[in-house]
Amino acid sequence: MHVAIIMDGNGRWARARGLPRHAGHKAGVRPVRACVEQAARRGVTVLTLFAFSSENWRRPREEVSRLMALFLEALDREIDELHANQVELRFIGERERLQPALQRRLQAAEMRTRGNTGLKLVVAAAYGGQWDMLQATRAIAAKVERGELAVNHIDADCIQSHRALAGLPGVDLLIRTGGEQRISNFLLWDLAYSELYFTPRLWPAFTAEDLDAALEEFAARRRRFGRTDDQLHEAPVLRTPTGTPG
Ligand code: IPE
Ligand code: IPE
Ligand code: MG
Repeated sequence: MHVAIIMDGNGRWARARGLPRHAGHKAGVRPVRACVEQAARRGVTVLTLFAFSSENWRRPREEVSRLMALFLEALDREIDELHANQVELRFIGERERLQPALQRRLQAAEMRTRGNTGLKLVVAAAYGGQWDMLQATRAIAAKVERGELAVNHIDADCIQSHRALAGLPGVDLLIRTGGEQRISNFLLWDLAYSELYFTPRLWPAFTAEDLDAALEEFAARRRRFGRTDDQLHEAPVLRTPTGTPG
């Protein structure tokens, strides 16, 4: 099962306490830890977290640099334990836009945890769903231009295999904290058949129990993938399509 989370509401959490926004970002690290542990316990196989969007570059320079510093700090602090717990890390997004020191750390963390057999933890930083489609389109077009790929071989699987989440199943459950009910340019292709769960809880206040509540609601939903209820009785186990719905 693939769960994705838009971790929103740090700023409002801080403001409600009379604190600066960065205090909210800092307080947002603890729920990340709690969710990673709980997701692994609950048998989630892939957890994708939205940490920083393509549009978040528009924030004040000071906030952006504090967020990047926090990201680096948290990664350095947690990497040993993540590795010991068999977590496999993957980072998606426009890495070239991140500071070189951070880029090196991301790569080192990926290399170190590659082949781990536990939870696959994907962190989306400097990520945008539209950027992802754009980079996949360019990569595919370049292959066509070089004569390595015929246009009529471009199918859903081909597109999927050029996307940032190549090789991973579609998102089963998308959770957004902070009360807004929008995608904010997060995963687009991969959300094709996701169940959507919105909660007013602000991210720094999100707990393992809140994740459980979302998983419980998910378990009670009927996923039809375009079929009828009667068909579900005949073949109850259906997977989220990544490419072509079966
Ligand atoms: C989410 O919290 C963190 C990032 C987008 C990096 P916000 O910073 O968006 O918090 P609000 O939405 O202003 O409360
Ligand atoms: C979405 O939150 C991005 C992340 C949580 C990383 P935003 O706070 O940036 O979203 P909008 O601007 O309210 O849509
Ligand atoms: Mg926000």
